Amino acid sequence: MLYPQLDTPCVLIDEAILEANIRGFQAHCDEHGLRVRPHIKTHKLPWVAHKQLDAGASGITCQKVGEAEVFAAAGFDDILISYNIIGAAKLARLLALAGQVRSLAVVADSEAVLQGLSATFADSGRTLDVLVECDTGAGRCGVQSPQQAAQLAELVARLPGLRLRGLMTYPAAYSEAVVQQWFSRAAALCEQQGLALEVFSSGGTPSMWHAHEAPIVNEYRIGTYVYQDRSQVAAGACQQADCALTVMTTVVSVPVPGRVIVDAGSKALTSDLLGQDGYGQVVGYPQARVTGLSEEHGVLDFSGCSQAPVVGERLQIIPNHACPVSNLFDEVHFCRDGVLSRTETVQARGKVC
Ligand SMILES: Cc1ncc(COP(=O)(O)O)c(C=O)c1O
Repeated sequence: MLYPQLDTPCVLIDEAILEANIRGFQAHCDEHGLRVRPHIKTHKLPWVAHKQLDAGASGITCQKVGEAEVFAAAGFDDILISYNIIGAAKLARLLALAGQVRSLAVVADSEAVLQGLSATFADSGRTLDVLVECDTGAGRCGVQSPQQAAQLAELVARLPGLRLRGLMTYPAAYSEAVVQQWFSRAAALCEQQGLALEVFSSGGTPSMWHAHEAPIVNEYRIGTYVYQDRSQVAAGACQQADCALTVMTTVVSVPVPGRVIVDAGSKALTSDLLGQDGYGQVVGYPQARVTGLSEEHGVLDFSGCSQAPVVGERLQIIPNHACPVSNLFDEVHFCRDGVLSRTETVQARGKVC
């Protein structure tokens, strides 16, 4: 039986694959003069982020103030929060955070967000670094044109308590040429106003190996690469052998030949499809399909396989999307060379604020 000392469902991460993923992308960025600022949303674990910094990362990215608080308490002192911070409660926590770390930056894409940040930091004796978030095509947050980016940059430079650092985008996959053109235009407009931009921050795992193809970008925020997952295999960012994280599960029923029920449902694998057929890839059974999930049951179709597992057998499933899986477990387990090596509490899970 696989890892009999672990109860299922649980998360198992291969340390050697994890380390190879970290080293591989860091080497790529070192070769191209790009700083790596890993997004901790994928692992939510200070222990993994330490490995990323040891490999050469310049700092970390968090999405939530609550995540940044966990990492600041764990000693991380260079943090970018890549999210608009709004409301008195979060702004007060942001100010407290600024007193704990060497370097804190946030993003903003509207005057309303900037006014809140400025009112909080203006008379605090501290200055907050700000990157203007740009929507270069992904259709989420961000100003909509280089002209708007330059206007907002000018406002950052003018507002008390804030320091303009640069531009940030979370781009559509494989849009390096668009990012290059967009950022260059915005930078030129800023320069005409006498505004200097130091940081041009982009990111994303799907097109990670093309990160250098937007040469204006000097910082890359990357999350999923550390574990990889089924959707990244489909996107061409990695091979299945690069997937470090699996959900280990036990077969609880085989009610009819070919239908295998496991104890990993949506509470373990998440319901994310991300364009995939089924909810994950069963390791060792390329023809098996994860056809349905309820909270505590995963329904697997083994009808296309020459062999099917029996009740009590354990399987490993590569999830479609590794990041939300981390958020579902109190702890994750690590192995090396087939031996259980450590268990870590997922310290920054559930930090929705
Ligand atoms: C703002 C931001 N930057 C970077 C990332 C990292 O993306 P990926 O996991 O594709 O590397 C994310 C992911 O959601 C993000 O939202």
